Amino acid sequence: MKPLPFTVYLLLIGLAEVCVGMTKIQLDNAIGSAYKSLQDRLDKVETYFGNLARQVMLQQFNSEQRIRTDGYSGVKAVRSSSHGPANYYSNSYVGSRHFIAVHDHANFIRTVGLGEINAVINGVEFTTRHNDYKLVMSSTKSTGYHDTEPIPFPDIPPSVLKLKDVDDQIEEMRTYFKAFATQNTTLRDYRPYFKANLCYMEGAWTLDKSIEEPFESDRHQLDAASWLELQSLIRYGAYTGTKSPLENFAHLPTAIMHVNKTTGLRLQSYGYPLYLPYGDTNVLQDTSRYARATKLGGKDAMGNKFLARGFNDPNLWCAETTQPRVAPIITEKCTTEKAGKMKVETCESIETRLSWAIPLEIVYMTPLLSWNPYRIPYTNNRKAATASGRYDGSTKRTAYNGTDLSHYYLTPVQFYKGRIRTGISADTARGGVWVRDRKGEPRKCSASGPRMVTPNIEGTLLWCSQELCVSSAFVPQD
Ligand SMILES: *[C@@H]1O[C@H](CO)[C@@H](O)[C@H](O)[C@H]1NC(C)=O
Ligand SMILES: *[C@@H]1O[C@H](CO)[C@@H](O)[C@H](O)[C@H]1NC(C)=O
Ligand SMILES: *[C@@H]1O[C@H](CO)[C@@H](O)[C@H](O)[C@H]1NC(C)=O
Repeated sequence: MKPLPFTVYLLLIGLAEVCVGMTKIQLDNAIGSAYKSLQDRLDKVETYFGNLARQVMLQQFNSEQRIRTDGYSGVKAVRSSSHGPANYYSNSYVGSRHFIAVHDHANFIRTVGLGEINAVINGVEFTTRHNDYKLVMSSTKSTGYHDTEPIPFPDIPPSVLKLKDVDDQIEEMRTYFKAFATQNTTLRDYRPYFKANLCYMEGAWTLDKSIEEPFESDRHQLDAASWLELQSLIRYGAYTGTKSPLENFAHLPTAIMHVNKTTGLRLQSYGYPLYLPYGDTNVLQDTSRYARATKLGGKDAMGNKFLARGFNDPNLWCAETTQPRVAPIITEKCTTEKAGKMKVETCESIETRLSWAIPLEIVYMTPLLSWNPYRIPYTNNRKAATASGRYDGSTKRTAYNGTDLSHYYLTPVQFYKGRIRTGISADTARGGVWVRDRKGEPRKCSASGPRMVTPNIEGTLLWCSQELCVSSAFVPQD
């Protein structure tokens, strides 16, 4: 592209040099033909450039198609943290102690520990930053891009709350955990107080020129100002085999997409409407909701109406969106009709905006997230508990000054059995800390945020053989 302005400049200068002594008509003709030759070249360059951009787009598509059929959507790998003589010493998507790099930040009120992962969603492969996402859900009030709200914590059973004595509350809460662990609704109907949340990872091509945090974390943010900077940093890491110690870079691919105006179509599949996949009657599917199957309005070449989304990908959920920041995928739909002896072709442009998702993990919420038998005050910031600078002792002066967003300790330590130690280096919660209650009395508490595995609780042991004990959290004890 570079020589182009240069050529223009030369031509005009050249003309200026030879035009002396020309008539006006000759001059007009010379200028006219110079412009025409320029215009021709420009047209050629535009065509070449268009073809090149199209080829790059198709190259991206080819590489996606290859990845789409190499396996399903899902997590491919986590960062390796060790090596050894046998393959089970190193990490795949499972590490030595955790799946997909999950770990605890139970000292944060609603942070789910999740490290860097390499994932594929609908043929697009990417590597995330250290995730540590928050327990939030799509906003129920706003339709704004990425707007979320906190998932409400489950209630505390009234039979626990009505007890005055903390030890009695602990006993009753343990009974609820025993009922949950043994799924025994006769012992206690635990179901309203133990809620499962399906957490998913969502991907879409966006039109954003600058990088915006794709989701909020209390611990990590993308550490680059632009896509170019992020790409350069991630390439550096990939070629040198190193990483940023803070794990705040992500490999998020960019692509050339065909972009044009927004339409509000309901999603169609090559002209067929999409129905709910099951049942005899045809009920139009609400394509704004994630689904991995649908029913076509017409039969396919194999005579099937049932359609699993993707070519062969049981993990791929699709949803349509109207968010203008999501890049549309555009195609032309043409129909031919006879008008007398002539055939008339009419074409319409179909634009669809989509996002894709994979289920990542199911996170159970328990009453421990808000159970506060010592009535310890909570402040919604990161530092209230440690503002005085001393927080390592058991005296009134040195205990945490209540709890806050990143020092969330409410659970009496004696609720658990023995010492709490996860042995995972990424976990940040301390075993038990002294926290001042609302009267200023120091109380020893455990972290109350979400945990991968609930520590062992007295009285909830299920069964024991000589080799193995399985406790409430279904974890072998060592
Ligand atoms: C469930 O709890 C009830 C009440 O404590 C008890 O009688 C029953 O044996 C328990 N069921 C199982 C399967 O443990
Ligand atoms: C893109 O949009 C413009 C403006 O709406 C339209 O004129 C043009 O035909 C579209 N191009 C393609 C290739 O669809
Ligand atoms: C403890 O927190 C309370 C309430 O936020 C505040 O009024 C008080 O000054 C704090 N005390 C110390 C020693 O930081």
